Amino acid sequence: MNFPADFTSLLSRTGKLVALTGAGVSQESGLRTFRDAQAGLWQQYKPEDLASPEAFARDPQLVWDWYAWRREAVKGVRPNPGHYALVELEAKIPAFTLITQNVDGLHRFAGTRNLLELHGNLQRVRCSDCGTFAETWENDSGSVPRCMHCNGLLRPDVVWFGESLPRDPLEKAVEAIRTCQVFLSIGTSGLVQPAASLAHAAQSNGAVVVEINAEATPLTPKTDFFFQGKSGELLPKLIQAVWGN
Ligand code: OAD
Repeated sequence: MNFPADFTSLLSRTGKLVALTGAGVSQESGLRTFRDAQAGLWQQYKPEDLASPEAFARDPQLVWDWYAWRREAVKGVRPNPGHYALVELEAKIPAFTLITQNVDGLHRFAGTRNLLELHGNLQRVRCSDCGTFAETWENDSGSVPRCMHCNGLLRPDVVWFGESLPRDPLEKAVEAIRTCQVFLSIGTSGLVQPAASLAHAAQSNGAVVVEINAEATPLTPKTDFFFQGKSGELLPKLIQAVWGN
């Protein structure tokens, strides 16, 4: 992939950049994207039918077990060159913010510092009644653990369909987008709001919108630059093309 000169020159001069990542960034670490078919036991369910407050109310054990399985799938998974290239990008750009919809924790593991986890984190758990966070809980293979304060059922600290995003990271994301010069959308289908609207907000605030994705998405026709390919390959090449190391 040869990046056009107007793009590399723009990036080398950029003082403020926001990147938004989705499940595609973790695909090369061996994790399924959200909209890939599910594996094994879980094939009969759609993620959309498990990641909701209604699903948890209907069958907390089923939802807990699905998240226990996903936590297990993330164990031993390591960041890939795409995650590490974003750590390098943070070192190159004076004001860098990484907004992620991923709950796998791989950006933090790789070393990204200014990170906003919009959809929470798989490894955290909180009480579904009183909201108290739990650092530890009973073995994942057992029944749904309960809160030590109010005996409510514990749930993963992730955002489910129909729930609002956590206020603090969302406010910081909106603020970063208000003034960024470049908005980089990577490995996300852009189907879920309000994350999906962040690119449009950035563009109306004057940012150049760039997309890296294995496939075209609904955002693609509106981008200023679209680079088709795997983020684990393209992001390191992008750093190389702009900064030459
Ligand atoms: P999706 O599974 O919807 O989309 C993954 C995107 O990554 C697709 O556009 C793929 O083309 C692209 N892709 C796959 N492999 C790639 C690679 N190696 N390099 C670059 N791109 C690649 O996942 P998300 O967009 O993250 O929300 O989904 C967003 C949210 O929708 C999730 O956080 C989840 C889901 O509903 C909640 O659970 C609230």
